[in-house]
Amino acid sequence: MSFQKAFEIAEFLKSKGVKDLSISVVLGTGISKIMEHFTPKIEIPYSEISGFPVSTVKGHTGRIIFSHTGDKKVAFFCGRFHYYEGYSMEDVVLPVRVSKFLGAEVLVLTNAAGGLNPSFKPGDIMVITDHINLFPENPLRGKNDENIGPRFPSMINAYDPLLRKVFIDSASEDGINIKEGIYAGWQGPNLETKAEYRFLRIIGADAVGMSTVPEAIAGKHLNMKILGISIITNMGIGEITPHSHEDVIRVAEKSSELLGKILIKWIKKL
Ligand code: HPA
Repeated sequence: MSFQKAFEIAEFLKSKGVKDLSISVVLGTGISKIMEHFTPKIEIPYSEISGFPVSTVKGHTGRIIFSHTGDKKVAFFCGRFHYYEGYSMEDVVLPVRVSKFLGAEVLVLTNAAGGLNPSFKPGDIMVITDHINLFPENPLRGKNDENIGPRFPSMINAYDPLLRKVFIDSASEDGINIKEGIYAGWQGPNLETKAEYRFLRIIGADAVGMSTVPEAIAGKHLNMKILGISIITNMGIGEITPHSHEDVIRVAEKSSELLGKILIKWIKKL
């Protein structure tokens, strides 16, 4: 495990004025729409950052947007690096480590996910209470640097209870009902079989997706406070009909408008 690359990228971003972060937000598939609610101060395409991978997935635009919201400096990573794209775990969690080296103590991880809880429906916003890691690799594998984080970090309350509560309260002020649940992360890129969706429900998951878990592990290792948000884009129970990546983007984009509104309120309350 090497932190050198993340450190160097953080130094480069500081030289461009992206520094003293309070909060860092990683935007999932179709969720870049929330940026309509934030005023960019500095924008840096990933392609201009030496050592930074370039996201290959439709719906991920590939840039860092730095914004001031109230008195908070917030960085948005528009475009994430999925394990299924072929990136190493080190690259998958690079935005998290860079964020920490830029000062961020709070990490927001967003994603599009399939719903497994029968009370959910497409378009719902779910706060992640906990996760189940089904990835075949771990970002903390390898030599550990005790100055950066512990060898065996606890994952109890990896998703900060207070951040979750403030998010739910912020939404309810606007009459928006937020779901809560456990996110199962697996590598994809194929979607689940019916039997796999059933299995994931049986082992306790409320939603399933192909991201977030490695980033949450890396964030908790760095002692960051994490808020995880899933937009439920399709259901994996009941009458399951095949859905396309375009369907996922369409539903995620629609709910992102609400999510952006809630996040602004949430950031101001922190
Ligand atoms: N499964 C896995 N990942 C997903 C899904 C799903 O059904 N929907 C959106 N991302």
